[in-house]
Amino acid sequence: MEKDRKLIIAGNWKMNKTVSESLDLIQGLLREVQQVKEVDMVVCPPFTALSEVSRKVIDTQIRLGAQNMSEQGVGAFTGEIAAEMLKEFLVRYVILGHSERRQYQEETDCLIAKKALAAHVASIKPIVCVGETLEQRESGVTNDVVGSQIKGSLAGLSSQQMLETIIAYEPVWAIGTGKTASSEQAQEVHQFIRGVLSDLHGDEIARQVRIQYGGSVKPGNARELMSQPDIDGALVGGASLDAKNFSEIILNSI
Ligand code: 13P
Repeated sequence: MEKDRKLIIAGNWKMNKTVSESLDLIQGLLREVQQVKEVDMVVCPPFTALSEVSRKVIDTQIRLGAQNMSEQGVGAFTGEIAAEMLKEFLVRYVILGHSERRQYQEETDCLIAKKALAAHVASIKPIVCVGETLEQRESGVTNDVVGSQIKGSLAGLSSQQMLETIIAYEPVWAIGTGKTASSEQAQEVHQFIRGVLSDLHGDEIARQVRIQYGGSVKPGNARELMSQPDIDGALVGGASLDAKNFSEIILNSI
């Protein structure tokens, strides 16, 4: 059955790329994919490159995302970036609760839920990340962990806001390891997540929410992953740092 959800493929550049490297990457990418309309394409450069990359993607099919933002609106929060500041660069998406931030900055579901609400208030679409560690998978608690992350990180969103939220399922053991979840393993968790969304917001909303897979997505495995009924896109780390690899992931997914 054809999916009626439009695929969304986002590149998370993480803490990589200076401004000049970012410009090279975005120019290379635009050369390869500027005609693509079938997929929502997003790049998430570091904050320091948002301004320059924004200028390049204006009037193209590529949209801009940030990798994090503050839950606060304005004020004495040293080192933080507010949603309204991101909007100046036409940022449309923001990655929230990435496992690296959950691990190294100790971000909690509660904080992530506040950030997601703040993003919606600014009309920025959050990409909320969830995923289990290897230890959790091996002890059979994947659904418990992911279910509770979903409920906690999306707490307080209205159904309309839920529709404008993207979920990224990223098993921690598959991130940057070259070890992808099999398409069956990924589909199983995606289907479970859609079930949790249905409990929270009803079938009709759950059916429309897009759920990305992330973790060692490459040109060679993108098509198989994207063909799964509940996988609606990808959040790509390492392979998004190279224009050819990222564009092949996009083109192979169509
Ligand atoms: P890799 O694609 O490098 O495994 O990273 C995935 C990720 O963390 C995207 O947010």
